[in-house]
Amino acid sequence: MKKVVISTGGGDAPGLNAVIYAVVHACYRRGWEVYGSRNGYTGFLDIDEMLRLTPQDVEEIYAIGGTILGSTSKGNPFAKPVKNLAGEIQLVDTSPKIMQNYKRMGFDCHIAIGGDGSLEIANRFSKLGMKVIGVPKTIDNDLMITDRTFGFDTAVSTATDCLDKLHSTAKSHDRVMVVEVMGRDSGWIALYSGISGGADVILIPEIPFDLEVVCEKIADNELRDKHYSIVVVAEGAVAKGGQVISKGKGELGREEVILGGIGEWVASEIRHRSDKDTRSLVLGHLQRGGSPTTFDRLLALRFGAAAVRLVEEETFGHMVALVSSKMTAVPIEEAIKTRKKVQLDNDKILTARDIGICFGD
Ligand code: F6P
Repeated sequence: MKKVVISTGGGDAPGLNAVIYAVVHACYRRGWEVYGSRNGYTGFLDIDEMLRLTPQDVEEIYAIGGTILGSTSKGNPFAKPVKNLAGEIQLVDTSPKIMQNYKRMGFDCHIAIGGDGSLEIANRFSKLGMKVIGVPKTIDNDLMITDRTFGFDTAVSTATDCLDKLHSTAKSHDRVMVVEVMGRDSGWIALYSGISGGADVILIPEIPFDLEVVCEKIADNELRDKHYSIVVVAEGAVAKGGQVISKGKGELGREEVILGGIGEWVASEIRHRSDKDTRSLVLGHLQRGGSPTTFDRLLALRFGAAAVRLVEEETFGHMVALVSSKMTAVPIEEAIKTRKKVQLDNDKILTARDIGICFGD
């Protein structure tokens, strides 16, 4: 009999509930107990936020987006924003309390579902003696070693649907539509949705772009009697010699800057450099919403079940990963070393270039 605790950390991604579903069922079949910590590590600090999970509690959740456990992007327990007696917010290291409660509550292990930030935190707990298994989640698909993270396929499908819808309005008004998509410092969402959604230009962080080249592509379209263009820009894309456009750091305790604004900037530059009517839109959190696609659902269920098998084998400190279509385990440490970027010889880049998509380089 084992007592397993699950947590979901960082930005939500479609498929989180499917992982929880698989973990609960796989543990139940082994006669183990499962608990869920609400909002990242809050359950380890407040017993009322630690939920017992049974198959009844997770009925049909595999098809639902978001996470039944809640999540937070400012939930680093090693630097948690806490109000002091004077009402000021301070960053406090709550890890000793979490370790103490993890042991006191009698857990055998912790299945941490998260992106690089949450898995880095899980890895720090692993070094403090917590038995941790990681599950790779993020719509950005930027985790190393695993071929895919769950959430990515759904985000790409949503972005592609939106691009499909933009063509008719762009064409009716002879406009340039600039669409900003998520992905942080990686261009995976922009690349996959841009190719599939018929973009003329895709701008990604891995290829610094030149606006003159972008405008040449738009002018070229005009010459070929195509009077509208679709530009997909990743939120972390950068102009040659320029800087990432962000909205600053946001709330205290948040690890990363809030990206955003590049789409509108690109649109206004195109407007000034050409005589084209231009509009921009930001797909934003729509990409994180909705029911997971079949691919993400299945991947998330496979990850959850594989995580429980790792618990059984006691392969702790590891993350489940999809490598060449197979479930495997890799040290969490390896997975979080760097972020997975689009390589310039990736066949999707080559495909895009072959079918005439411009990267602004
Ligand atoms: O990492 C997932 C992600 O959706 C990024 O693509 C995006 O930059 C970020 O999270 C947005 O975070 P938040 O939900 O805190 O605005």
